[in-house]
Amino acid sequence: MDIREKILELKKEKNAVILAHCYQNVEIDEIADYVGDSLYLSQKAVESDADIIVFAGVTFMAQTAKIISPDKKVIIPSLDCGCDMADMITLNQLREFKSKYPDIPTVCYINSTAEVKSECDICCTSSNAMKIVKSLNSDKVLFLPDQFLGKWVESQLDGVEVITYNGCCPIHNKVTVEDVKLMKSKHPGVKVLTHPECRVEVTQISDYVGSTTGIIKYVADNKDLNEFIIVTEKGVIDRLRRDYPDKKFYLIREDMICSSMKTNRFEDIYNALLNEKYEITLDSDISKKALVCIERMLKVSK
Ligand code: 13P
Ligand code: SF4
Repeated sequence: MDIREKILELKKEKNAVILAHCYQNVEIDEIADYVGDSLYLSQKAVESDADIIVFAGVTFMAQTAKIISPDKKVIIPSLDCGCDMADMITLNQLREFKSKYPDIPTVCYINSTAEVKSECDICCTSSNAMKIVKSLNSDKVLFLPDQFLGKWVESQLDGVEVITYNGCCPIHNKVTVEDVKLMKSKHPGVKVLTHPECRVEVTQISDYVGSTTGIIKYVADNKDLNEFIIVTEKGVIDRLRRDYPDKKFYLIREDMICSSMKTNRFEDIYNALLNEKYEITLDSDISKKALVCIERMLKVSK
């Protein structure tokens, strides 16, 4: 039997669901039940009635699924899949940051650990960050760990000061204004679609700024356009090239690869399902507090 068939059979046998982020190796989509951005996948984790969730993504995503669905077994196929941005702020660093700005609501990007979420007021993703910050009705908010997403939100809202922690995504942070200008000069008039984890100077000269799913949707919605410059991790362009073979997509830099996202192959997913590991376990107090932070986001995002 082909490994894909074996995975599908095991999935059925164990009542398991596979959630995959759109930075995963593109072939993972063949066995995944849902593929999308962080918000979509967390919504699917809430809705699912599976006994087991196999998360093809990075650790904070699997932790989020476990926090939302504590009664399900949440499995991550590899232990080597942390998010460098999420690891940029520890609980102690969060406490220190908050102590400098008392009584200001704290928004944490979903790219953060369960411990960090447990001491923040509300969570957000790249697709709802603006809505979440607005929902707080505060003229000042603390935002962590991603300084660029925070500053991009600030640039879009009138009268809100977003005080950011100094974290960032090392992959998106590679992109410079010069990269964008060079690409635009090679492909004049082509729209630039950018993830908000990029530097503010980069998002400011982009035509569209949005989550990974947002970028894919922009292409789907703009049927009259045939070329796009893509400013995010390579997984997004791999899916676009597969789904729109007649259109042209230009990746801003060839090194836009998140190695943590690329660890999973069919064999890893199969072994994860077969052996039911590696299971995500969390301290129940941390988990309960982090749930409040995530549930507030899900409520605002409905
Ligand atoms: P999305 O929520 O846009 O998929 O982003 C997650 C991420 O880690 C981007 O680097
Ligand atoms: Fe984290 Fe950046 Fe990888 Fe996204 S691309 S998972 S933010 S390291």
